[in-house]
Amino acid sequence: MILILLGPPGAGKGTQAKLLASQYGIPHISTGDMFRDHIARGTDLGQRVQELMAGGNLVPDEITNGMVKDRLGRTDVGPGCILDGYPRTVPQAEYLDRLLRSMGRAVNRVLSYVIAEEAVVERISGRRSCPQCGAVFHITQSPPRVPDRCDRDGAVLVQRPDDASEKVRTRLNEYHAKTEPLVRYYRERGVLADIAALAPQDEVLAATRRLLGR
Ligand code: AP5
Repeated sequence: MILILLGPPGAGKGTQAKLLASQYGIPHISTGDMFRDHIARGTDLGQRVQELMAGGNLVPDEITNGMVKDRLGRTDVGPGCILDGYPRTVPQAEYLDRLLRSMGRAVNRVLSYVIAEEAVVERISGRRSCPQCGAVFHITQSPPRVPDRCDRDGAVLVQRPDDASEKVRTRLNEYHAKTEPLVRYYRERGVLADIAALAPQDEVLAATRRLLGR
């Protein structure tokens, strides 16, 4: 199953993708996490995207598509994968269609996480991430056991540089201009379903699993 999670920044895509990936035993592929990993390791690619990401702007399609092509070529994607944050533009979606076709595959399902803008702004402002393992918390909705410390490895939690309020505005503008058209793109192809994302995490997960029938 090739599953795409679509939705604005802070809708809960990453949270749900991690839960679904562990329940279905297929990889969670987050282009945002992959870029953050490149930045943390100081690779050439990381240096090219760091400023764009920190400012809340999208990374150019050629860079993103190339990175995804490499990732989808790995053997663990055999049983399927969950794409989180990709595609994010119509040219990326068209590229993905061509790439999957060349592999004899296709997008099976696209879930569009629907949530009001005030709610995503609140979620993003309360998000804290572990710089070591990437675990994500929220200061009130899913707080760590020890304040500001990761439950898994005890590292001090941080706020993402692009979670500052002025960057969030840019990200939302990018979303409306470039990513929202994908809702129509996938609806017209008959693979899209809406998920109400304002509910608590376990309810969103249950709704998603009901919809996927597994
Ligand atoms: P990316 O990392 O993909 O960020 P995003 O899409 O902006 O999404 P977020 O990670 O902000 O939110 P999310 O929906 O995953 O929410 P989360 O689960 O964390 O991309 C970052 C950047 O990378 C982009 O701006 C761009 O520069 C670049 N990039 C990435 N992909 C690209 C592409 N394809 N093309 C070009 N550039 C690309 O949840 C948010 C918070 O809410 C958390 O604190 C969580 O604990 C909490 N929460 C989650 N669910 C619930 C719930 N149900 N109830 C209450 N709280 C909840």
